[in-house]
Amino acid sequence: LKKNLSKSCRDLVEVHPGRLVVYIYHKDWYQRQLDFSVKKDDVWVITYPKSGTTWMQEMTWCVVMGIHHQQTSLPLMKRFPFFEWDSMIAPDFMDEKLCADDPCLPGNTWKIMANMSSPRTIKSHLQVPLLPKQMWEVKPKIIYVCRDPRDVCISYYFHYVKLNGYKKELSDFVEFFLADIMPFAPFWSHILDFWRRRDQENILFVRFEDMKEDLLSVVQKVADFLGKQLSAEEVIRIADHCSFGSMSKNKAVNNETLPAAENEKAKGLKFMRKGKVGDWKNHLTDTQIKAFKEWTFKHLEGSDFPYYQDY
Ligand code: A3P
Repeated sequence: LKKNLSKSCRDLVEVHPGRLVVYIYHKDWYQRQLDFSVKKDDVWVITYPKSGTTWMQEMTWCVVMGIHHQQTSLPLMKRFPFFEWDSMIAPDFMDEKLCADDPCLPGNTWKIMANMSSPRTIKSHLQVPLLPKQMWEVKPKIIYVCRDPRDVCISYYFHYVKLNGYKKELSDFVEFFLADIMPFAPFWSHILDFWRRRDQENILFVRFEDMKEDLLSVVQKVADFLGKQLSAEEVIRIADHCSFGSMSKNKAVNNETLPAAENEKAKGLKFMRKGKVGDWKNHLTDTQIKAFKEWTFKHLEGSDFPYYQDY
């Protein structure tokens, strides 16, 4: 199965029994990440990719720094660096000239983190066993976002078409997704490891679907979790700023500066694609829906995880 994957997926490595990440190019990356010094007042947003990471990052940043902060227009990657990105990018993936001062460039993410004043806001897609060891001793604030895997899969597919030039059909991608041969897979262990920790004081577990249903409540929840007193007006301003319409137009967060594939399939695709719950219904066949159901039941057996069992 792996042989048929696009280049970036073929470079997957199993770094901990059953836990995959995309190939890491930085020498000593694994130990370096495990040994990273965590600060108590760090705020981490952690997700399986395509689960609403960018959305929660922007909301969290506005809650932490204030909606009126002058740096709101800086690229999110600079305000909220992507932890493992530093070691992750294939040298041939980025156009060095385009990204000379870009936080996407290998080596830049950790430089940004080193110069950040507290509280640092940090994004990661890493699974629990791959995160810095200090995470579980120092206990920084962690906001974990999960999303219906069927929507994640569709969103991930279009992400791969746009940003990685993935040319195969959705049916192939679904097969890889359900086989958990994806960067940062497996899907369910990613979620369940945080679900089991959800009652810890420093962890907030949020669903993409709750953000869609009632964004104001989630802004308030994030503010309460981070110990920030916001006025009703500030909560409304942040929710407006984080609406799909507003984020789609906001160059600081819509990732449109990332180099996209140049082919017919990728043409016109946006990072802020649809932002909907249930778009999978427009793409998955009955057989694929059944396969998702079986896969979900298999992985949730014996777990008290209550979501996405509504098949
Ligand atoms: P779709 O591809 O389904 O549209 P991530 O940031 O983890 O990569 O997730 C990207 C997904 O979150 C995309 O999903 C994107 O459209 C959605 N998203 C980002 N901001 C959003 C917002 N403000 N409202 C709704 N969905 C949003």
